[in-house]
Formats: sequence, C-alpha cells, structure tokens
Amino acid sequence: MSSAGCLALMAVFAAVLAAAAPPPRSSRAVTGSAATVWCPDVVLADGWDPVLRRIMDEGPTAWGDSGVPENTPPPWMDARRYAAGKAFIARHTISVTFAHVHSLYLLLAVPSVLDVLVYTGNSDTPDEAFIRYYDTVQGVLSWYVSDAFTAGSWGFEQLKHVRWMHNLVRLDMNDNKHPEEVREKMRLAGNFTGCPVSAGLRRDLDRPLAARAPRPETDAQPFSQDSNKKSKYMSQYDMAITQWAFVGPLIQFPDRYGIGNATEEELDGFVHLWEVLGYALGIDDRFNFCQGGLGPTLRRARQTLAGIVLPSMRRARPPWEYMTRCMADGLGYVLPGIDFRSQLANMLRVTLDAPSPSVEALLTPQQRTATAGYRGVLSDIKENGGLSDSVSSLFLQLVPTLRSLPKEQVKKLRHRPPHRAEGCYARIRP
Ligand SMILES: *[C@@H]1O[C@H](CO)[C@@H](O)[C@H](O)[C@H]1NC(C)=O
Ligand SMILES: *[C@@H]1O[C@H](CO)[C@@H](O)[C@H](O)[C@H]1NC(C)=O
Repeated sequence: MSSAGCLALMAVFAAVLAAAAPPPRSSRAVTGSAATVWCPDVVLADGWDPVLRRIMDEGPTAWGDSGVPENTPPPWMDARRYAAGKAFIARHTISVTFAHVHSLYLLLAVPSVLDVLVYTGNSDTPDEAFIRYYDTVQGVLSWYVSDAFTAGSWGFEQLKHVRWMHNLVRLDMNDNKHPEEVREKMRLAGNFTGCPVSAGLRRDLDRPLAARAPRPETDAQPFSQDSNKKSKYMSQYDMAITQWAFVGPLIQFPDRYGIGNATEEELDGFVHLWEVLGYALGIDDRFNFCQGGLGPTLRRARQTLAGIVLPSMRRARPPWEYMTRCMADGLGYVLPGIDFRSQLANMLRVTLDAPSPSVEALLTPQQRTATAGYRGVLSDIKENGGLSDSVSSLFLQLVPTLRSLPKEQVKKLRHRPPHRAEGCYARIRP
C-alpha cells in the first residue's frame, strides 16, 4: 500500500470510529489505531523514534545485562505510576493474559529471539514448552501480584531467578569456545516445508504488506552500523523487543482486548511498570523500550509492530510454526482457550483487524466455535469494564494454587505428543 493509500485508509478508519464509537467514559480514554499496523510508511513518516533507532543500531551488539545490582529498583522509579500499572493489571487480568499470549506469537517471529529458544532446546515438545512457559508465566504473574523489590516475596525470588537464568544462557551462548556448536544448536532439524499455517499466514500477510515497496529501513533485521562489532546473543536489542511484546499490543489495542475505558494514567502506569521491570532484568537505560512514558512508548510500539515484527512474521523462519504451536499447546495445559490455530486467528482478526481467509480456512468447526467464544468473552469484559471485584478476588485466591501447581502431574495428565505431519515436523533432540 502506498503512503497516500495508507493515509486515506486511516482517514476512513478515523471517520468510522468517530461515527461508531460511543463517547468515551473518560475524556482521556485511549483507543488503538488499526490502519497504521499495515503502514510502516505512515508510522515512519517522521522517521524512527530515536530510542528505537538506538535499540536497532546499537542494541544487537550490546551485552544483554547492564550489570545493575539485582532486585534494586531504579533511582527514577515512580511509586505512584508503578502502583497505577499494577491496579490496571488487577482489573484486566483476562485481557492482559490474552495480549501476552498473542505477543508470544509475534515475538517468536523475530529471528534473534527464535534462535535463543531453539538453542535452549527446552520448548520443542508440548510437555517441555509447558514447563518452560509455565516458568515465564510464574515470573510475570509474580511481578504483577507481589512486589519484586521486597526481600522474601514471590516476585523478589522470581526476579532474581529469571535474571540469573538469562545470564546463564547468555554466557553459555556468547562465551562458548565453539561458535559453530552454538550455531548448530540454533538450528531445529526436521522438515518444515509443508507447515500449513505458515503458508496460510504468509498469504494473509502478503496481501496488506506486499503492496508497499520494500524499504531497507523497514527490514525486519536489526542493522548494526558498526559492522566490526559482533552481534551478541540475548542482546539489549532482544531484551528491548521482548519488553515491546509485553507492553506493545496492550497499549496499542486496549479496546480490542476488552479494555474499553483505559485511561492514559492506567496505560502509562502499565508502561512504567515494565520500564522498571526491564531495568531490574538488566536493560540499560539507553535501550529501555518504555522510557519517556505512554506517548513515546506508544509511538515506538507502533513502529516496532509495523516496521519490525509484522515484516518478520511475514517471512517467519521455518521453525516458527512448530515452536509457536508447542508454546500454545504447552500453555493450553493450564490456560483454557489457548489453542494454536484459534488464537492465531483471533490475533489476526480481532487484534490486528486483518482479513485472514487463508488462516481461517484452516480452522476446524471446533476451532471456529472457540474463536467465536473468545470474541464473546472479550465483549462481555468490555461491557462490564473489566473483571468484577468478585471475579478479581477469586482470581487472586487462585494465584497461590498456580504458584505451587504440581507441574509434573499436570504434564502427565495433559500430555500431548509433539505435532507431526508430513512435511512439518521437528527432529526432537534426545
Ligand atoms: C471502566 O468502566 C467500568 C464499568 O463501567 C467502571 O467500573 C470502571 O471504574 C471504569 N474505569 C475507569 C478507570 O474509568
Ligand atoms: C519434506 O516434506 C515434503 C512434503 O511436504 C516432501 O516433499 C519432502 O521430500 C520432505 N523433505 C525431506 C528432506 O524429507
């Protein structure tokens, strides 16, 4: 699509929204803009945001851990904004959960992130993915419901643990004496030529994305200007893009996730929460995706989705489908409603508002019912302005259960064999 075409489309969108949208309950309610998703030319009309530019230029060669002392809040932390972020999450648990799941679909399309997941090799069967992502869920949940900076709290222990794990993998990959071994472990053996969803996804994304002339700046790969410097694994770039995954879709499309009346204060609090967590996980202040508050982060998020992530997804590497399916299958052991194809369809249709005939044609009748159910749940949540207090308190009572879930037992009960179809399977490492 040309820039003019994009602008025209946006004007139509704005007019439709203005006509259809009820007056916001809060004068500062925020809604996402759909058309910009497909128009890198528009979101990049004024050039890349300087922080994002730095993340892309210098982030890939910068060591992924800043070295700040562990479990120490940043000097610039604002307790009021941080608390607003947590209150926002408590009110919108279901919305936040679905947004995070969709973010993983998108994040895995970023080549340097997928590389690390394949390398660590502990998420290439549904059983392993369940354990692997369950740890991620625990970490994130612990920071949402407890305090990461109070010694002895759940969030405190998780923060220490996650940073330690990251550094272990980082050292293993970067300081390995045998770089060819590292590259070998980043390759997932198998045959992916006939993965049906990848092919459908490519067709669906080609329609809105291919028409515009490719521009080198909007290429999916980060580009380092200093080619003498070697890219690092789990670099500041990877950390910052992961930070995008946690905040981007939610602040871009709160209404699409059933959050009809999010205020700027709430979304800004959520952004600040992840700014603080990013710092504590070792993101250098220069590369912190969430710096500057809601406005600049939103701009960066739009540019990241349209200019980096969706183009990556359009040419996702062969193991993308296999690894993402394992992720969804594994999360499905504990999260009801997470099914690889139906959530992909929901992300495309509901969140990104993209016509996705090829992916939808692959849905079984049961998956179709599931996507309709998802839309129903979201509109219910939206009608009610988030979870009712009773549901929220029920959820909070469930958290200790989630915390001490007998993982091995769940794994046995819910076991699913790895996906295997002709032309689409991985050779699982022993
Ligand atoms: C959003 O709407 C719900 C339902 O009307 C209401 O309970 C809630 O307080 C609202 N939130 C804000 C921040 O206005
Ligand atoms: C991979 O699968 C395709 C079918 O989709 C098949 O034609 C091809 O021979 C397979 N390649 C290998 C190396 O097994």
